[in-house]
Amino acid sequence: MQIFEDILTIQTRTKELKASGKKIGFVPTMGYLHEGHIELIKRARDENDVVILSIFINPLQFGDNEDLDNYPKDRENDLIKAKEHGVDFVFYPTEKVMYPEPMSLSISVTKRTNVLCGRSRPGHFEGVVTVLTKLFNICQPDKAYFGQKDAQQVAVVDSLIRDFNFPIELVSVPTVREADGLAKSSRNVNLSAEERTEAPSIYEALKFGHSLTEKGEQNPLDIIKQTRQFLENKTRGKIDYIELLSYPELETVDSVNGQVILAAAVKYSKARLIDNLVFETSQHA
Ligand code: PAJ
Repeated sequence: MQIFEDILTIQTRTKELKASGKKIGFVPTMGYLHEGHIELIKRARDENDVVILSIFINPLQFGDNEDLDNYPKDRENDLIKAKEHGVDFVFYPTEKVMYPEPMSLSISVTKRTNVLCGRSRPGHFEGVVTVLTKLFNICQPDKAYFGQKDAQQVAVVDSLIRDFNFPIELVSVPTVREADGLAKSSRNVNLSAEERTEAPSIYEALKFGHSLTEKGEQNPLDIIKQTRQFLENKTRGKIDYIELLSYPELETVDSVNGQVILAAAVKYSKARLIDNLVFETSQHA
């Protein structure tokens, strides 16, 4: 496994690999690797000749009051895990390497962003697509792997790839969970012991909301209301949002029909957690 810290060296290497017909799978991360990330690496390993993992905590996607300073890091452990799972190249740039000077251009995200995390975290998806545009040009992957846990990110990256014609296939990987249902996240370490016992209720609430649709409930507002009540009874975390939208378009729906996402974000003292369920429904006659 090779570790690259500067852009030109890895970009030259990826160019050579592509010229020799090798397929490159790319897994972008912010590090502190857990089984969710590992699942993406495994998929990339299975489907490509070369696997590139990037580890970069991208300041552009964090708001002023967010957890950039508390974001967990463990370089040594990340490199051990990457090697163990067959990563070929790790791209591990510093902030200075990625942003030697303030950007003179910006990408504005105009669709799939005024809802869910895009609404709660202004500028977040602009930061995500900016860093991914850079990383895609640096690593030149054939396929890029993203977790369904960040379903809105998948939807926005899908727009990025299509709008700008990146010759990249987006692969979306199902959410990996703890035994009690909590979605694995680098941020889970920032939960207190009490918060950790309550946090699985986020997924329970989403499953509860989904079960209502299976019983024939079609009114999004009723489903959201009941899901909120369910969650409020189970956790003292502050509910940032619970939304039900079409997926991947992320548009409001009058009635639950077709593919939809039920998503929630909950703020704990030092961590904001998100989770979602995407499911297909067909209206009963
Ligand atoms: P990060 O939060 O480190 O996540 C890296 C990738 O791992 C994302 O595609 C995310 O959806 C996926 N992932 C995280 N938890 C997961 C889980 N429990 N199951 C499945 N996949 C999971 O997302 C980012 O970093 C950044 O926004 C990034 C894309 C790297 C751009 O900076």
